[in-house]
Amino acid sequence: MAEVIAATRAMAAALALLSAGEVVAVPTETVYGLAGDATSGEAVARIFEAKGRPRFNPLIAHVGSLAMAEELAIFDPLSRRLAEKFWPGPLTLVLPLKPGSAIHPLVTAGLDTVALRMPRGFAAGLIARLGRPLAAPSANRSGRISATTAAAVAEDLGERIPLVVDDGPTPVGVESTIVKVEDGRPRLLRPGGVAAAEIEAVAGMALARSGAAADIEAPGMMTSHYAPGAAVRLNAVETFAGEALLAFGPQRARGAEQALAIRNLSERGDLREAAANLFFHLKELDRLGAAMIAVEPVPDTGLGEAINDRLARAAAPRDADDDNE
Ligand code: TXA
Ligand code: MG
Repeated sequence: MAEVIAATRAMAAALALLSAGEVVAVPTETVYGLAGDATSGEAVARIFEAKGRPRFNPLIAHVGSLAMAEELAIFDPLSRRLAEKFWPGPLTLVLPLKPGSAIHPLVTAGLDTVALRMPRGFAAGLIARLGRPLAAPSANRSGRISATTAAAVAEDLGERIPLVVDDGPTPVGVESTIVKVEDGRPRLLRPGGVAAAEIEAVAGMALARSGAAADIEAPGMMTSHYAPGAAVRLNAVETFAGEALLAFGPQRARGAEQALAIRNLSERGDLREAAANLFFHLKELDRLGAAMIAVEPVPDTGLGEAINDRLARAAAPRDADDDNE
């Protein structure tokens, strides 16, 4: 059962857990977040595991300063102006990932953009001390509403996480507003803690809204970004010459010695480790230029469900549209 510690006394415990790759529920000004080191695949995998997310949705990475944000993503002039005006605060900006960005690909679900925000309160001090960004979705089980008190977090996730930091009810109480600037024009992806009109006043123009909510959730969007160049063959019990092999566990598919290259998601068959490795390994095998990536079976339990969901997307037939991305 999670320990619930008052924010005034919780800093050292929270830092120790996060440094060890654990997850901690922390207050932000919007809702409680389930935080983990955004540069550690295993920490991020733990977040998905605790939330029971059926698949890997991209998460918001929380930063402690604009300087930290600029190391992770590329700011256009309008996004920088919005950050200067509303950070710290309940505004999330979707930005292109910077090459070499420390953000783990599990945070972005393999997208080439990252959602960044600088929170207020306990989380801000925590990130400054940790010196690393924190990935944090709302601290509730998947399919339930966001938690705005420590008690609500403990009730929902208490059996799955070690620590809830209690700073009373969150002041904003709804999640952050999500905005993406495209070709100099801001688009509202999710309404939230900063009113659209406030953003429009700073931007000096109206927020585009068409299809916003649908786009965030649309599986097709992530499928197309995520699809490797190679074809993907799932549940492979045999490998053929010239294929690349994405392996799982200690035992190899027949003919593995013919594979162009092998990457193992988890030698010891650990699904959390496999989730953390998934995007790295797939991309690496894809880079070799094999026509086919054969994937050994991954059990569909726990995080395996999310892993198989992403693998199925990677293996799905491509729409004609996808080639235009
Ligand atoms: O106030 C908040 O934003 C809270 C606190 C904890 O910071 N966090 C939160 O996170 O609401 P979550 O994971 O429940 O929602 C994140 C939203 C999702 O709708 C996701 O699709 C979107 O952000 N998102 C993340 N990365 C994205 C990206 N690269 N492009 C488009 N949408 C993205
Ligand atoms: Mg949520």
